[in-house]
Amino acid sequence: MSRLSIIAYSVCGLFFSVSLAFSLFYGYKVITHDLPKEKKTVETYNYHFVLVPEELDNEYWKLVEKGAKDAAKKYGVFLEYTGPKQANIDDHVKTIEMSAASKVDGIMTQGLSDEQFTPLINRIVASGIPVVTVDTDAANSRRLTYIGTDNYYSGYLAGKALIADTFGEINVAIITGSFYANHMQQRVKGFENAVKSEKRINIITVQESEISRVKAAEKANQILQEHPEVNAFFGTSALDGIEIAHVVTKFHKQHQIYIIGFDTLPETLNFIREGTITATVVQEPYQMGYEAVKMMVDHIQGKKVPPIVHTETRILRKADLPVSTQSGKAEGN
Ligand code: BGC
Repeated sequence: MSRLSIIAYSVCGLFFSVSLAFSLFYGYKVITHDLPKEKKTVETYNYHFVLVPEELDNEYWKLVEKGAKDAAKKYGVFLEYTGPKQANIDDHVKTIEMSAASKVDGIMTQGLSDEQFTPLINRIVASGIPVVTVDTDAANSRRLTYIGTDNYYSGYLAGKALIADTFGEINVAIITGSFYANHMQQRVKGFENAVKSEKRINIITVQESEISRVKAAEKANQILQEHPEVNAFFGTSALDGIEIAHVVTKFHKQHQIYIIGFDTLPETLNFIREGTITATVVQEPYQMGYEAVKMMVDHIQGKKVPPIVHTETRILRKADLPVSTQSGKAEGN
């Protein structure tokens, strides 16, 4: 072999060895790249519950979900949060039925109406799955317990707040989430009874927003055009007051029209801060979710659970700020 061939062979050999080393090194890295350091432990749960809200992405229901999730974590529960994208009774009922069919350990939902929800809840309970009503009760059903606001009383408080905050003749328009739902009917009834004996207060109209921002705004617009005498609004569900405030501001009437809303969502608190909404009815959605899970666990573990747990409700005005947007207790959480 010539000297030249020896050099050529040596260079090729060296090149081959270096390439092989690189291939082995990076090949190993690629193969092992996504492997976890240790084998992942499979999470185990004691129970599987489902929470079916009226509307999945509604900020109010996200607070109920948050409470339920926190309790689920604490008690080893696998919590599913599923329901209509936009408030819709048929979808709501279907989701409950599907949850029952998949044999979960407990269902938490609203008791929206006696006609539709009472027989549904009774069927599910008879099949061995406990049901807790949250936010809205189907009081005549066989649900395990109701956790939520005393809805009649909360409406009554709103009526008394209107009396306390105003003077002279007041013509009120009510925008309610739904004519169909138990809790909305009770809030309106409580309000009507609270102002009944006050001669200077007249209820001009009651309209329905169908838990929709767009509808609430449409109704507020229509009311202001058809009833120029209206100088007060009561919005009975979380988004109604916010949309009434938007419309009233658009008409530049924020200094002439009194607004009382429901719930303490950030937008509502902002309107209270700037004075467009005078008062709102506080609910405790986080606590509703948390306690619902806890009571379901208690029941499954053989502990006694009270048939009704009313969460706190009260009136909040600008002077009461700051408050929490999560639980109504301390702002900024
Ligand atoms: C009610 C809920 C309702 C929500 C709608 C709340 O005031 O308690 O039942 O789904 O408003 O935005």
